[in-house]
Amino acid sequence: MKKSPKVTKILSIDTSCDETAVAVTHEARILSNAIASQAKLHALFGGVDPTTARREHKKLIDPTLKDALGKAGLDIEEIDAVAVTVGPGLAVALEVGVAKAKELAKEHKKPLIAVDHMEGHLLSPFAKDEDGNFGVDNPQFPALGLLVSGGHTELVLVRDFGDYELVGQTLDDAAGEAFDKVARILDLPYPGGPQLSRLAQKGDSKAFKFPVPLKQSGDLNFSYSGLKTACLYEAQKLGKLTRAKKTDFAASFQAAAVAHLVDKLRRAVLKYKPKMLLIGGGVINNRRLQTEVKRLAERFKIPLHIPFSNSLLTDNAAMIGVAAYFKAKRGDIVRDVQKVERVPDLTLEAPVNW
Ligand code: KG4
Ligand code: ZN
Repeated sequence: MKKSPKVTKILSIDTSCDETAVAVTHEARILSNAIASQAKLHALFGGVDPTTARREHKKLIDPTLKDALGKAGLDIEEIDAVAVTVGPGLAVALEVGVAKAKELAKEHKKPLIAVDHMEGHLLSPFAKDEDGNFGVDNPQFPALGLLVSGGHTELVLVRDFGDYELVGQTLDDAAGEAFDKVARILDLPYPGGPQLSRLAQKGDSKAFKFPVPLKQSGDLNFSYSGLKTACLYEAQKLGKLTRAKKTDFAASFQAAAVAHLVDKLRRAVLKYKPKMLLIGGGVINNRRLQTEVKRLAERFKIPLHIPFSNSLLTDNAAMIGVAAYFKAKRGDIVRDVQKVERVPDLTLEAPVNW
């Protein structure tokens, strides 16, 4: 068997949605984490517009690449490998990053590592700062991952690096999507999740009785469409909302949305008895969610690992570099660069093998 090349310094790219992201990592240490956000442009559409995403990624990829290498103080020739998110995500957006990564790997004769965006979120708590502070040092398996983002809501049983079982996932909308949609019902500007959660901090979470989804289902799946519809009907019934009512509405929705996540996490902990919890994804920025997850971890005396910076929760390329480092360690490097392509519906249970 051919021995894998030693890979420690990685240039990673993520263009899975509406952020053009490029990072340089050294093992799990972040040397730079450049992000060019397109959020303002997509706000005009009230959501991610695929044509705009593709155009902007194409425009922003080279400057962001230069930015990431510059901040890391490295030349591309000093990099050991190139990593890229191949999925899941928006096809036309993924394509831009994948094409750039293939081009760089070929031109500079560097190994290529194909990464699942969700493995990036899952392993984001392993990221360390430039000096090697923070990040998980003694991983304990099995671990349980709770990944909550705009596109996904997943509970992942982690038996080891690269050995993942999806034990729960959303049957319809993702949690972040529900936050964004309810924010829209409340006339908050896109992306609404963070705005809604800011408003919710001041509100009375018991003012409205929104149902916690799937309490009796007995499984570990999620569903947000019923809660979203309940919010829509309630808002239609109320008509124009005063600022105070909006605040209470946001707090009540948030309470139900968070209770749903924590309820399923608790069930998964009881079922799988994990030795550590890994938490990632943009919705983890939500204060109430963080507080409740911390409380649960304390109650069950399980070490809880959250990325050391909020910039590692929302989409970024440093988490892709960290996941790529662990992939390289297990020899999981692309053998045939030509075959690499975007896989919009990639899942952690069926990894790519090129
Ligand atoms: O992980 P992420 O950056 O992108 C995806 O991979 O989807 O997550 C973005 C999602 C958005 O839906 C956004 O509204 C949500 O995370 N989000 C929040 C908060 N901050 C970001 N949702 C609730 N509370 C927040 N504080
Ligand atoms: Zn994401």
